[in-house]
Amino acid sequence: MNIMIVGGGGREHAIIRKIRENPGVKTVWALPGNGGIAADAECVGIKATDLAGIVEFAKNHPVDYAVVAPDDPLVLGCVDELEAIGIPCFGPRKNAAIIEGSKVFAKNLMRKYGIPTAAYAVFDDAEKAMAYLESAPMPAVIKADGLALGKGVLIAMTREEAFAAVREIMEEKKFGASGNQIVIEEFLEGPEVSVLSFTDGETVVPMVSSMDHKRAGDGDTGLNTGGMGTVAPNPYYTEQVAAECMEKIFLPTIRAMKQEDREFRGCLYFGLMITKDGPKVIEYNCRFGDPETQVVLPLLETDLLEVMQAVTNGKLAECDVKFRDGHACCVVLASEGYPLAYGKGYEITIPENVLPQVYVAGAALKDGKLVTSGGRVLGVTAVAGTLQEAVKQAYALAEQIDFEHRYMRHDIGQRALSAAKG
Ligand code: AMP
Ligand code: GLY
Repeated sequence: MNIMIVGGGGREHAIIRKIRENPGVKTVWALPGNGGIAADAECVGIKATDLAGIVEFAKNHPVDYAVVAPDDPLVLGCVDELEAIGIPCFGPRKNAAIIEGSKVFAKNLMRKYGIPTAAYAVFDDAEKAMAYLESAPMPAVIKADGLALGKGVLIAMTREEAFAAVREIMEEKKFGASGNQIVIEEFLEGPEVSVLSFTDGETVVPMVSSMDHKRAGDGDTGLNTGGMGTVAPNPYYTEQVAAECMEKIFLPTIRAMKQEDREFRGCLYFGLMITKDGPKVIEYNCRFGDPETQVVLPLLETDLLEVMQAVTNGKLAECDVKFRDGHACCVVLASEGYPLAYGKGYEITIPENVLPQVYVAGAALKDGKLVTSGGRVLGVTAVAGTLQEAVKQAYALAEQIDFEHRYMRHDIGQRALSAAKG
């Protein structure tokens, strides 16, 4: 089998490594991949959002199966276009990817089908939004409707901040057309849990739960990032919570999408908050999370490609998806300054024995050497019998990787460790 993966971050690296465990896999192409992925796949210089380029490549190469990993090509309809030329894909079609592509769609879906989520109001007019905020409870959460590189969510502690957020999104168009509509949401409190799931539109199989660490600094301080580290499983996701999520969130969401003629096939990511009133949906993503994938897939026992194909073929119910007992921790190494300005081009040294546990995100090959090319440079994942041991090992590995201006959080997993104890 020859596989084409669209995307080029740490998540895609983790997917490629796992797919490669299938003995039937011959060639793997990554579009565009990155300097680190180049060790495990043939990287092709076509951007993940260049749908015409992707289709052209697929027409001219013997691609048997495609995996579309990032949100933007999915929302743009990459799967539809590949299917139209006869290539089976893992990933939702455009009409289902809208569950991430439009927050207004997602919120209205949840309201219509009684799926627990924060109370909200939708606005396409800044003045009306401001008028509403005059008497809305604070803090309030202001979200741009469309994709915004994960940055379209602003939490306003005061009314002034809320007004400023509306101005930024709707008038200054900080996130472009994504801000033509906004959602203003009730502020929820409680621990967050990420649950990625496989679904073929009928059956939903949750993967092992995980916990992201979104803030740049230790103790959850500083700016929001794409994720500075993850652990799996998430101790807040107890068996009882899992059962409640299945009954009130996962199955109702899958059925709702089907009912709306938007059958979802692929990985549906549930961003959940465990509130005192039970679990509620914070967000849906139409794809694997990053860096959640880097802790979830290493714990997957079943062959990933087989599960993906079962999803594509609507046969997930026949598939026995197993995760191993144990814990995983991924520590992200970033370039100092991220998520704001940072330098690039620093040479990265990774000891040979550490390489298999490294998932490369922002790195390029220059004169045969791996150099940094992005803010989040790579993630290093350790799997162990206990969370404590996984955290310890991940940090021991991270310390062996070197590049100038390397930055990492030092408390990945600490919150999970105290929760597990408490
Ligand atoms: P998102 O980009 O939708 O993942 O949102 C980013 C982060 O904002 C989430 O991970 C939450 O920590 C926070 N957030 C989003 N919606 C709410 C809400 N209604 N109440 C409290 N926090 C929220
Ligand atoms: N780690 C959060 C996301 O992938 O959206």
